[in-house]
Amino acid sequence: MSLVYLNGEFKPLESATLNVLDRGFTFGDGVYEVIPVFNRKVFRFEQHMQRLTNSLESIYMSLDITNQQWQEIFTRLIDDSPDPHQSIYLQVTRGVSPRDHDIDLADEPTVFAMSRPIQKKDLSAGIKAISHEDIRWSHCDIKAITLLPSVMLRHRAKLKGAKEAILFRDNMLTEGAASNVFIVKSNIVYTTPKNHHVLPGITRDLLLEILERAGVEYQEQSVSLEFVKNADEVWVSSSTWEIVPVTQLDEDTIGDGKPGALYEKINRLYLDYRDNGVS
Ligand code: PDD
Repeated sequence: MSLVYLNGEFKPLESATLNVLDRGFTFGDGVYEVIPVFNRKVFRFEQHMQRLTNSLESIYMSLDITNQQWQEIFTRLIDDSPDPHQSIYLQVTRGVSPRDHDIDLADEPTVFAMSRPIQKKDLSAGIKAISHEDIRWSHCDIKAITLLPSVMLRHRAKLKGAKEAILFRDNMLTEGAASNVFIVKSNIVYTTPKNHHVLPGITRDLLLEILERAGVEYQEQSVSLEFVKNADEVWVSSSTWEIVPVTQLDEDTIGDGKPGALYEKINRLYLDYRDNGVS
């Protein structure tokens, strides 16, 4: 029975229960974080906490939990499990209120956190993705719990035997349903600039740091669907998937259909950084 954190208390998952008038349930009124734990250490802690603060501010919320207190909460959850690699799920909702849009009626925020083993599927041989119109809203920079479009997009990918949906707004790349996207063409790496249409991925930012240190040219620039289909390499990144090569997009093969040379190099540097703090 795993231990979870709910509103100041640690308890078994089975006995962590919520009021049905929690605005997370009635309105999807909340934000979340997924924070990886590698070799039992929280990875990029400050960056995740800063993004949580930004998401909360964007929805007119704040919390009085310090980073030190978060560390203590996470440590207790991590210690409860023997797995070296885990993923912390943290969710904050606006709390309980009558079902009324007015946010001032809300009680205390609901704060929930749990840690689970990272379900490591080996995707390093490359995945198939579909391309899809970006059907989400205009504040994708907020890590909001309202994920219905992303759930539908992942399902549409699955129906076509694919693992991810790569999204386009007016024919221009935004990101994946639950990942950021990198395109390699003639040894230059392209990724969408940070704006309201993409989540500022923590893994994305780390990859740009690694590219910089490795002297690989990159551009934060959105590219078209045709550009992606003609790319030499396509990668997607997230905290739990890490870096995954995309070798097929719809019916088109990307590059030679195998993970590219730059992927192999950057993935090695990433794993080095993850495990030893160097790259
Ligand atoms: N999702 N873009 C979207 C829409 C995402 O949902 C995610 C991650 C990312 C990658 O961000 P990061 O590198 O910070 O994990 C980009 C998480 C893993 C999820 O919802 O489960």
